[in-house]
Amino acid sequence: MSIMVETSSRVLFIIMLVLSTFLYLQSLAGHLHPSEVVALKEIAKQLGKVDWDFSLNPCDGNPSWNTTADKNRPEFKNVVVCNCPGDDVCHIVNITLMGQDLPGVLPPSLAKLPSIENINLARNYLNGSIPSEWASTKLEFISLSGNRLSGSIPIFLGNMTTLTYLGLENNMFSGKVPAELGKLINLNHLVLTANNLTGELPMQLNSLTNLTELRLDSNNFSGKIPNLGSCTRLNMLEMQGSGLEGPIPESISLLKNLFQLAISDLKGEGSLFPNLSSMTGMKKLMLRGCNLHGKIPNYISQMSQLQYL
Ligand SMILES: *[C@@H]1O[C@H](CO)[C@@H](O)[C@H](O)[C@H]1NC(C)=O
Ligand SMILES: *[C@@H]1O[C@H](CO)[C@@H](O)[C@H](O)[C@H]1NC(C)=O
Ligand SMILES: *[C@@H]1O[C@H](CO)[C@@H](O)[C@H](O)[C@H]1NC(C)=O
Ligand SMILES: *[C@@H]1O[C@H](CO)[C@@H](O)[C@H](O)[C@H]1NC(C)=O
Ligand SMILES: *[C@@H]1O[C@H](CO)[C@@H](O)[C@H](O)[C@H]1NC(C)=O
Ligand SMILES: *[C@@H]1O[C@H](CO)[C@@H](O)[C@H](O)[C@H]1NC(C)=O
Repeated sequence: MSIMVETSSRVLFIIMLVLSTFLYLQSLAGHLHPSEVVALKEIAKQLGKVDWDFSLNPCDGNPSWNTTADKNRPEFKNVVVCNCPGDDVCHIVNITLMGQDLPGVLPPSLAKLPSIENINLARNYLNGSIPSEWASTKLEFISLSGNRLSGSIPIFLGNMTTLTYLGLENNMFSGKVPAELGKLINLNHLVLTANNLTGELPMQLNSLTNLTELRLDSNNFSGKIPNLGSCTRLNMLEMQGSGLEGPIPESISLLKNLFQLAISDLKGEGSLFPNLSSMTGMKKLMLRGCNLHGKIPNYISQMSQLQYL
């Protein structure tokens, strides 16, 4: 009898030990700064996101705040990333809410997260424009692809020089591309495809010397293709159905790192085949409806990586 009592109290002791260790480890997961919890509640309201569970810690990896990838829903992503220096007080650095049919607006309260670097809200139903509050952030990555955003591309974006990625494709942005975007010297990716942008492209795009990807397809620009001869890191350049006029500028010959080039439906005067002889790594080359004449040059046959012509 006494042996049994002793055994069961030992078992109880072990269970309690395991449980308290578990709770202790849980409490070690850093906690979000209280002002950021308030900001997240505002952000949820502005986005129309109703399924963040504020009774759980956004920073401990629970499924309400970090849903694991589901191969049946590849468009869907639901991730919040915290930075917890010294496992103490955490700060939000990344919010990725893709393919969630969010019905609201871009959240002005994002600017209340002092460490936010990445915002990805692609493939939702967000409308309105980009809030001016974002100008005060140190955002590096903005993807707003596939929403119902409208209005012009704001001039203050040019002040966000931390940006390396700006993806505004598949929205209803209109008006001109502001010359101020030329100040984004760290920008690697600029994607403006499938909007309702008009006017001439600013020559300041040629200041974006860190750019590797530039896509301007399916817009309603006017004027000539700008000189991009200083953007020598470009790998991908696309201007299909952009409304722009030919000819393809001679300076394109300087873009020796291009491996994907697609230009189509140019208005205006034609030209000889552009000089692409330095682009020895070319993989996909498409020049359709560009009013080209003359011979296709021989060096095309030496482009050993070419998969699509
Ligand atoms: C955004 O959508 C809401 C709800 O449909 C609508 O009331 C509002 O006028 C829209 N705003 C803009 C700028 O389109
Ligand atoms: C950009 O920053 C400069 C310098 O801080 C400021 O004077 C200017 O008003 C800002 N532009 C916009 C559009 O916010
Ligand atoms: C390009 O990016 C690098 C690293 O992000 C940065 O140091 C540099 O100043 C940027 N600008 C130019 C003009 O190269
Ligand atoms: C595009 O802009 C033009 C001229 O500003 C306007 O007439 C047209 O309705 C716009 N189209 C879309 C899809 O927003
Ligand atoms: C593009 O702009 C031209 C002139 O500004 C206009 O006539 C045309 O309807 C526009 N096309 C679209 C698809 O908005
Ligand atoms: C083509 O461009 C390359 C690189 O800019 C240059 O070295 C070469 O002379 C050009 N060829 C012709 C025929 O203009």
